[in-house]
Amino acid sequence: FRIKTPQNESVLSYAKESDERIKLKARLTELKKEQIEIPLIIGGKEIYTGNTQKCVIPHDKNHVLAIYHMAGEREVEDAIEASLKAKKEWDKMPWQHRASIFLKAAELLSGPWRFTLNAATMLGQSKTAYQAEIDSACELIDFLRFNTYFMSEIYNEQLISTNESWNRIEYRSLEGFVFSVTPFNFTAIGGNLGIAPALMGNVVLWKPAGTSVYSNYFVMKLLQEAGLPDGVINFVPGSGSLIGNVVFNNEWLAGVHFTGSTKVFNGMWKTIGENIGKYRSYPRIVGETGGKDFIFAHKLANINKLVTALIRGAFEYQGQKCSAVSRAYIPRSIWSVVKCKLISECATIKMGDVEDFTNFMGAVIDKNSFDRIKAYIEFAHNSDEAEVIWGGNCDERLGYFIEPTIIVTKNPYFKTMTEEIFGPVLTIYVYEDEKFQETLKICNDSTPYALTGGIFSQDRMALVEMENILTYAAGNLYINDKPTGAVVGQQPFGGGRASGTNDKAGSKLNLLRWTNPRVIKENF
Ligand code: SER
Repeated sequence: FRIKTPQNESVLSYAKESDERIKLKARLTELKKEQIEIPLIIGGKEIYTGNTQKCVIPHDKNHVLAIYHMAGEREVEDAIEASLKAKKEWDKMPWQHRASIFLKAAELLSGPWRFTLNAATMLGQSKTAYQAEIDSACELIDFLRFNTYFMSEIYNEQLISTNESWNRIEYRSLEGFVFSVTPFNFTAIGGNLGIAPALMGNVVLWKPAGTSVYSNYFVMKLLQEAGLPDGVINFVPGSGSLIGNVVFNNEWLAGVHFTGSTKVFNGMWKTIGENIGKYRSYPRIVGETGGKDFIFAHKLANINKLVTALIRGAFEYQGQKCSAVSRAYIPRSIWSVVKCKLISECATIKMGDVEDFTNFMGAVIDKNSFDRIKAYIEFAHNSDEAEVIWGGNCDERLGYFIEPTIIVTKNPYFKTMTEEIFGPVLTIYVYEDEKFQETLKICNDSTPYALTGGIFSQDRMALVEMENILTYAAGNLYINDKPTGAVVGQQPFGGGRASGTNDKAGSKLNLLRWTNPRVIKENF
């Protein structure tokens, strides 16, 4: 039994007066009125701890969408216990039945659930309709369908046997539970970090980011509606350090599936190292962390394509994609034309409420992000080594708005050129054409990260040279394209160095990390 190769889910346009726009608008209105209360979901039961936080709309910060309950130590212990209990049945379930639950979730999401999840992502994370559509609808549906397909490929794998003996490989699940820690910026990643291990027979304790609890709760409800048995994935919002303290001390910790900052991931890795003697097995540690993603242009770059990639790569979703472009290297010979076009494009960008479909940008996620990004812009303003050539204004009266901002620096090691900002700030270094190779080496070496990058040229030999010098500079490298928007099944996603363990989300490689294979040889 094999699952046939899926097709990627088509992106709906939400054109004016389209059926999908009407449905989405209706859902947005309903969700804004409802103000729900979000419990923990442990072993299928709703738990209200009374220790609550608010979910607010980032572009309308006084609007409370929901309150959510936070886990205490007791609930974390309960979630681990519930998951281990569920595991007894779950990993014995024929994999085709596990697949069927997630395929049903994909089907529900491509139908009635699409507008609910898109609306929740727009409101809770300040995504435009298009950004919500490619994330919480298309990418999540793709993860559900493609992972199921990769799973069927894995379980159908056979070893070579001889006439005298038969060799089998069993892809068992891990012995214990998986801790899934998810980021605010993609609802699809939130779902996938639990779905991928669960498909392979594992049970999961899911700690969503506080700032995306709202949409992530709807993902949990969707999975329940699709028939996910109680306890297989346990939804446990709360403080990372409190939850971590319990999880990292538990002997049954079998894996961590993480997306978030390098600093937090390093902290987890250290704690696991310190506790290594406590565990039944070496926990699988899979993480996607920070980035300082680049675009490198050669003098023969197609300028229109380059400018579009810079704008879309740097400013879509307010620059809060791990893949977003935040540094660019442009040769002197084309700089004045590139600058002119960049500025005239920036002048057309509209920012504001994401329910206005003409806006290209919403607000950044919260006050912490707003302050951090603003401090980087101020640093550039006050430096002799940089000039802010576009944007730079920050306004938090209504929501956390930061203008698309372009900084030009004379120093390729300038702070905003090398540190992760995670906001709509692009720093450009203009290099002398004859220093092409030298600047490529700086691009390769000047940050600890290696997530995504884009290289632009119409000269094949220049592309070859760029690819070679930048061998380890990006896990996902794009030629003549923006380095954001990886499509499941087409560009498996992940990076190396300080950007993560590069276990490619949306690939067979990722699913294999959630297995503990047993090989059986039988002699005849
Ligand atoms: N997968 C996303 C992208 O490629 C980032 O997480 O943009």
